[in-house]
Amino acid sequence: MSCGLKTFHRVAYQRVLKPILFCFDPEMVHDVFTFIGRKLGATKFGRAATAWMYRYQHSMLEQTILGIRFANPIGLGAGFDKNALLTDIMPSVGFGFEEAGSITGEPCEGNPKPRLWRLPKSRGLVVYYGLKNDGCEAIARRLRGKRFDFPLGVSVAKTNDQSTVEVEKGIDDYEKAFRALHEFADYVTVNISCPNAFGGEPFTTPERLDCLLDRLDKITTSKPIFLKLPVDISNDELDALVTVMLKHRVRGVVVSNLTKKRDRKEINQDEIRNISKGGISGKPTFEASNDLIKHLYKTTGHRFVIIGIGGVFCAQDAYEKIRCGASLVQLITGMIFEGPQLIGDINRGLVELLKRDGFKNISEAVGVDA
Ligand SMILES: Cc1cc2nc3c(=O)[nH]c(=O)nc-3n(C[C@H](O)[C@H](O)[C@H](O)COP(=O)(O)O)c2cc1C
Repeated sequence: MSCGLKTFHRVAYQRVLKPILFCFDPEMVHDVFTFIGRKLGATKFGRAATAWMYRYQHSMLEQTILGIRFANPIGLGAGFDKNALLTDIMPSVGFGFEEAGSITGEPCEGNPKPRLWRLPKSRGLVVYYGLKNDGCEAIARRLRGKRFDFPLGVSVAKTNDQSTVEVEKGIDDYEKAFRALHEFADYVTVNISCPNAFGGEPFTTPERLDCLLDRLDKITTSKPIFLKLPVDISNDELDALVTVMLKHRVRGVVVSNLTKKRDRKEINQDEIRNISKGGISGKPTFEASNDLIKHLYKTTGHRFVIIGIGGVFCAQDAYEKIRCGASLVQLITGMIFEGPQLIGDINRGLVELLKRDGFKNISEAVGVDA
């Protein structure tokens, strides 16, 4: 597609579609987009037309990581496609991979509505979904027999209710989701950092994480395991978690989840005054996640594959995460604010940035600033 048409898309989303969409309840808009995405993904024509409008490919962006081939480094973060309904259309939108979920042992209604708010000035969202999803058994049935045009990650978490608060019960729930889903995924992410679940985030302490990973180690699988980390941790706390990860089969880390720190300088306080619950995505997580990525890369080198996520709104943002040490990058909020053409724009921009800096492939830029 020509550059003129791409610019038209960007301007049309920013000036026309977004102002209309942002008048409506964000969860309702998300559900409508999921419905449209499913319909488009269901037909060859829908997929081809979407790819013609949005997808950008270039050999400089291709990598093979842990034996998995990624056509480009930009993935859809966990939380957008909670029930794995969009796996057919997202490759056409231009994503190099997707992380479906988070998916829990049991079906979960999530927290009461409203549970999603936009923060236009802070360029973020307040998220209080509380792991709404259809549960691992229904989603496993949905995925069985399907083929995917890109690598599929599956994020597992523990069911958000009273029954999983006790540590062993929580671990049982993770194990159930893991066992049900690993065969369909190229990698499995264990989400220990949902800020909106009953009982908090018990597995972000080294002792409990050790117990959880001990149990998951016993599952026979060839699929690499990633861990999704919280963003509101110090370097020392990260080091303590890394010590545990090194004892187990963890091959990668997703850095990182929503922030609960409401006094971050990027957050416009007027916007959140009347929203008392939830974690915040987008720009308020950008720097904090980059700092963790850099520290992790500096201290562990290539031991873990790092997927960087948090506040990516343009190619330069993605490039910064890569230069800090991320081999792959994910996003959600940037796409909601900038439109679906953002993925192609980022990939196109990355190629230009790589050429400017004399790299032949994206992998050469990983960690150069750490
Ligand atoms: C609507 C929404 C739902 C989310 N749900 C999940 C989830 O189920 N599991 C998870 O690991 N992260 C979840 N997240 C966190 C994102 O994956 C990501 O870590 C965070 O939003 C920062 O990235 P972003 O700034 O690109 O949105 C969610 C984020 C959003 C915006």
